[in-house]
Amino acid sequence: MKNNEVLIEVKNLKKYFVKNKGFIKKDLEVVKAVDDVSFYIRRGETLGLVGESGCGKSTTGRTILRLYEPTSGEILYSGKDIAKLSREQMMPYRKKMQMIFQDPYASLNSRMTVSDIIGEPMDIHHLASGKERQERIFELLDTVGLNKDHAARYPHEFSGGQRQRIGIARSLAVDPEFIICDEPISALDVSIQAQVVNMLEDLQEQRGLTYLFIAHDLSMVKHISDRVGVMYLGSLVEIGASSELYKNPVHPYTQALLSSIPVPDPDIAEASNRIVLEGDVPSPVNPPSGCKFRTRCRYAMDVCKEVTPVLKEVGKDHFAACHLLDK
Ligand SMILES: Nc1ncnc2c1ncn2[C@@H]1O[C@H](COP(=O)(O)OP(=O)(O)O)[C@@H](O)[C@H]1O
Ligand code: SF4
Ligand SMILES: [Mg+2]
Repeated sequence: MKNNEVLIEVKNLKKYFVKNKGFIKKDLEVVKAVDDVSFYIRRGETLGLVGESGCGKSTTGRTILRLYEPTSGEILYSGKDIAKLSREQMMPYRKKMQMIFQDPYASLNSRMTVSDIIGEPMDIHHLASGKERQERIFELLDTVGLNKDHAARYPHEFSGGQRQRIGIARSLAVDPEFIICDEPISALDVSIQAQVVNMLEDLQEQRGLTYLFIAHDLSMVKHISDRVGVMYLGSLVEIGASSELYKNPVHPYTQALLSSIPVPDPDIAEASNRIVLEGDVPSPVNPPSGCKFRTRCRYAMDVCKEVTPVLKEVGKDHFAACHLLDK
């Protein structure tokens, strides 16, 4: 299914949240959650997106879906900029793009039956009614490894893994092209994680789906991703083909994330030279000047304080933003 067609592309995407800390105007605080991010995803491929909690992964995903209004930048779907479309103009795109959440319990309405949870997106888009709707719900349950008998039950009657399956069935109900999987396995038992990832991979194969797969840890996205992007404090610091990025990480932050993966893996470079990231992640309200990673980088130089590094090509389909590459 993989070809060279770009399905999703974001260009210079920014999402700033303005928060009011107090009562007067000067107490306004601007959270730079996504701060000038650009990347593309080809049709049928999986882009993994990783980085520590709070670096802007979910905001990136939600802004692509227009669940958040972008502050600036372009969001291209099959080449068409959807960043400024009206609610009505967005409707056909809402059907093409879906999301699966980390916590399936919080994202499923506890007062609705499984049948109505899965049927709701079909109703919104007027896709099926009556017997046909029922049949499709049964089919979707079967697709995700559940069955008809589950349709009349409520979310609390299921295990975490089963609830995630219900969330997946719901996302498939509108027959989407693109699914953002926002840490879909982080809350699940390790034994269940592989089952869910395998199911997502099978569904991708069968339906030609395109995924943005978000996780906080590089080991979680390794098997499912064709390419991986690494975010730090609202910026994309490195992006490349998985095979390249895991073997030959270029950015000091990617190197540190990889070295913290506990299990030895022959595909991962320098696993034995553990780099410990010191200090906390700075606040996205007041990020460091120049390279945002400089306060934790063991290679930081004078230029890193002054000049913001931009993504540069370091190999085939592999880009990183670091002044070490200037030399
Ligand atoms: N709705 C919101 N209002 C204000 N700040 C937000 C909102 N959502 C996220 N943020 C802030 O934006 C930053 C990025 O958050 P998020 O995208 O959830 O990160 P991640 O998914 O990588 O953990 C964080 O500092 C977070 O506190
Ligand atoms: S630009 Fe400088 S501070 Fe930033 S990662 Fe590279 S060496 Fe470190
Ligand atoms: Mg998140």
